[in-house]
Amino acid sequence: MTWWDAVNFGDNQQAKKENIDLIESNDIFGTPKPEKLVEKLLHIATNPGDLVLDSFLGSGTTAAVAHKMGRRYIGIEMGEHAVTHCAPRLRKVIDGEQGGISESVGWKGGGGFRFYRLGPPVFDEDGHIRSDIAFPVLAAHIWFSETATPWTVMPRTPFLGIRDGRAFALLYNGILGDRRADGGNVLTRATLALIRAAIAEADPTFAGPVTVYGEQSRLAAPTLDREAVTFKQTPYDVRARR
Ligand SMILES: C[S@@+](CC[C@H](N)C(=O)[O-])C[C@H]1O[C@@H](n2cnc3c(N)ncnc32)[C@H](O)[C@@H]1O
Repeated sequence: MTWWDAVNFGDNQQAKKENIDLIESNDIFGTPKPEKLVEKLLHIATNPGDLVLDSFLGSGTTAAVAHKMGRRYIGIEMGEHAVTHCAPRLRKVIDGEQGGISESVGWKGGGGFRFYRLGPPVFDEDGHIRSDIAFPVLAAHIWFSETATPWTVMPRTPFLGIRDGRAFALLYNGILGDRRADGGNVLTRATLALIRAAIAEADPTFAGPVTVYGEQSRLAAPTLDREAVTFKQTPYDVRARR
């Protein structure tokens, strides 16, 4: 209970009951918020279509209410209840559950959500690439920062893919099986040939420009120009944002 009128907005006890009804679990959260209270807050602070962020999602009330109120939302939760409570609760909302504010907002069901698991952090507190980052994690980050699309391929070569007529490759962390300090992480004629071979295998007709990330380039500027290769150096050219 708070100074906000519990009769109008409900209290933790009412929310616990909502949770019991919704998630059919004895393992109920300590102080869940009633849907009515979150509805009031979203009415005050947002309009339909706005994006609501709850970075401590808990039992998922914010996301459930935002969904029923036609707001978009992002919920972040580090506990396993993201899987055992939040996602099932949202699926019930989509199926048209009639608890909480459903009746008062005329909720009939519909819509959808996407569920993602965050990968390990790429950067340390100082903005440097973490030294223990594995190839697929850095590759996914670079691909997203270059193309704004998720990277789903799992190649065994440095070639990451082609997007909008440009090919991308990453020489990092022994992807070529050469873990020497200046081995598989350096752009040379030999590593470029391997990248070209992987591109040709994926798309034999490809003749566009290539962006290669690596620790160092041994190719001179005129060669890079002739080959239409843009070299970007790890870690300096790897951006945290697009
Ligand atoms: C009090 S609950 C949130 C209540 C919820 N927002 C509501 O209105 O009912 C706090 C939640 O934050 C989660 N949490 C704490 N630190 C976190 C972090 N760094 N990242 C994601 N979730 C976190 C906890 O697991 C817990 O479920």
